[in-house]
Amino acid sequence: MTATLDKSAQGSTGEIPSFEVTLKVRRYLPESEHGDEAYWDEYTLTMYGTDRVLDALHKIKWDHDGSLTFRRSCAHGICGSDAMRINGRNRLACKTLLKDLNPSKPITVEPIKGLPVVKDLVVDMEPFFASYREIMPFLITSGNQPSKERIQSAEQRERFDDTTKCILCAACTSSCPVFWTDGQYFGPAAIVNAHRFIFDSRDEGAAQRLEILNDKEGVWRCRTTFNCSEACPRGIEVTKAIQEVKQAIIRRAF
Ligand code: SF4
Ligand code: FES
Repeated sequence: MTATLDKSAQGSTGEIPSFEVTLKVRRYLPESEHGDEAYWDEYTLTMYGTDRVLDALHKIKWDHDGSLTFRRSCAHGICGSDAMRINGRNRLACKTLLKDLNPSKPITVEPIKGLPVVKDLVVDMEPFFASYREIMPFLITSGNQPSKERIQSAEQRERFDDTTKCILCAACTSSCPVFWTDGQYFGPAAIVNAHRFIFDSRDEGAAQRLEILNDKEGVWRCRTTFNCSEACPRGIEVTKAIQEVKQAIIRRAF
């Protein structure tokens, strides 16, 4: 079943048809009369075929309810700040077209899971970034400052290319059932970012990072459910990266 398109609205927006869509947004406003109870608010909006979920959230905030709170910055899939659970699946609101979500039915929008909700769609990202910091996401080298660039072949660069694409949106980590039940687990994103340096031929900190991830809350908690790979808006093969880190720990060869 598809949404009914209103062709009469084409005049003001060129060839782009409009349609009615209902957004059910999970609200959490501890200072309101709802107290600590989260609840659903519904908004019916007129939107266009080129609009994304982020555009609908802007419309709600700007035209209907200024108290609605969510994060976003770039609006173009780069900053990673607007990961949310849309129709039960983690996605970036700025990369999700309303027309691709069957707008004839209400579209649900919730905060990502496994991190404390601060307000509405905003979660506390600190536990996520604490794990990220733990894996030392920076180049580690010994010795003096080099006198020239650190040479790397195209093949060596290719080895970790996939994991350089991470934008730290947390869509992977917050879709992981292990992370939901055990907030101590490093989570896929931290492992992806460890992978990015472990397999970088210029880096000398791989042994330290593998030691960190060989922890009981490290890579061995992964149950290979592939939720993370499905959730990643950058198309990173997250589960594969985790498997490669597991193998590197076993072989200690990288
Ligand atoms: S691996 Fe993908 S889903 Fe996970 S934080 Fe990075 S960009 Fe987001
Ligand atoms: S707002 Fe930056 S990734 Fe969506």
